[in-house]
Parts: sequence; C-alpha cells; structure tokens
Amino acid sequence: MKLTLRIWRQAGPEDAGRFDDHEVPDAEPEMSVLELLDTLNGRLVDEGREPVAFDSDCREGICGACGVTVDGRPHGPAENTPSCHQRLDRYSDGDTLRIEPLRAAVFPVIRDLVVDRSALDGIAEAGAHVSIPAGTAPDADAMLQGHDDAETALDFAACIGCGACVAACPNGSANLFLGAKLGHLALMPVSGLERGSRAREMVREADTEFGPCSLYGECSRVCPAGIPLRAVAVVNRERLRSVFRRG
Ligand code: SF4
Ligand code: FES
Repeated sequence: MKLTLRIWRQAGPEDAGRFDDHEVPDAEPEMSVLELLDTLNGRLVDEGREPVAFDSDCREGICGACGVTVDGRPHGPAENTPSCHQRLDRYSDGDTLRIEPLRAAVFPVIRDLVVDRSALDGIAEAGAHVSIPAGTAPDADAMLQGHDDAETALDFAACIGCGACVAACPNGSANLFLGAKLGHLALMPVSGLERGSRAREMVREADTEFGPCSLYGECSRVCPAGIPLRAVAVVNRERLRSVFRRG
C-alpha cells in the first residue's frame, strides 16, 4: 500500500522545524512504524538526501529508546504499545501518518524525531539506586520476600523509561514514571532501607523539572509497560511517608 508520511524535520535544537511529506509506495500492513522509517530512510539515502533521525535499540519493547508521536499520540494509535511494535495494519492505501517527536517542554528536540530525555534520567539518578554498603549478593533464599510484594515490585519494574507518559500528560507530569520507580524499590529488601531519603530526593527532582499530576490518566493509556495509574498514588504515599520517616 502507498502511505504518505508527514514527518517532523528539524536540523538541530535551534532550528524552528517543519513537517515534510514523503511517500512510501511499498508499505506492508505487518511493518512497524520504525520499519516504515527504515524503508523511507533507505530511499532517502539512495537519493543522496538526509535520512530521518530517530532512536531505536532493542525493537522488542524493552529499552524505551524508540518513542515517537504518531498521529498525535505518544508511541502511536495502539494503546500500551511501543513505537517499535506499532503495526501499520490499521492504515489503508492512500492514508497519511503524521510522525513527530515526543512533545514535552522537558524533552528538547535534538534532531528530527530524537529528543533529549535526560530530565527523566535525572529523577532516576536522584535516588533509584542503592547507596548503603549492601555487601556481597546474599543467597537467594536467605532474604525471603512475600509473593504478592515480589509480584507488585516486578510489575512496577517493567517501566522502560520511554517518557511517553510525560508526553501524553497535559501537565508534563512524570508521576507515572516516578511512582513505578518508588513502588518497585520500596518493596525490595535492600533498596527498601533507603525508602525515605529516596522518596525525598526523587520527588524533589521531579518537582523541579516536571509538572504536577491532575489524574488525567492519559499516561497509563500510552504506557507500553502497562504501569497502572495507581503508581501515581504511590508517589503521594511515599511523598507523605518521607516527611515523617527517615528510612
Ligand atoms: S511509566 Fe510507562 S510510559 Fe512512563 S516512562 Fe515508564 S514505561 Fe514509559
Ligand atoms: S526500540 Fe526498544 S522499546 Fe522500542
């Protein structure tokens, strides 16, 4: 099928940017959005033109590198699906896809579809680590953990740090991401020992760079890891708890 790609082109952070139209006459329904961009780039390179810059790594929904906005929705029209898994089977011959970077004030465009998401890394760097002497790794059965806690921690640990939740939020809030990190680490036996200080540092960092949460819920609908909206409640719980508890 023939598709028209209306793609954001921006030479660098200082460039104003614009949409350019490109036709891909040989798109297949089973292709992903990234494979469509690969096909277009092959043609642009053959013609001696500049290919479209975009990020990707695993193409398996694991690394979080590939987020772009497709038809106004972070990652694309399919809910809870990363850009690398967004298939073209919902499009028909002659359709137009509008592809642009993740849009958020904290994610400046570096080039074309590539944005700088280091503000999100800043939240993780503020506290998503263990800084106390934890010794060597204990035997797996020496530190027992309840099954429900382990399952909940694993659910929150599924966050791949893609930033789509921030781009989907009208306030540019990172609370879904923050709640996933806090909820995961608070339930682990060793990292739980720094629960209070971690919450204080990470919440402070998020408050500096990102907007507040108004519970719109768009974040959870685009999240490719399926992080539930209750992660936002985790932020509020950990924020309050850290006021009264040191550890
Ligand atoms: S919470 Fe979901 S949308 Fe937000 S960064 Fe993590 S995986 Fe991406
Ligand atoms: S390329 Fe890794 S999640 Fe899409």
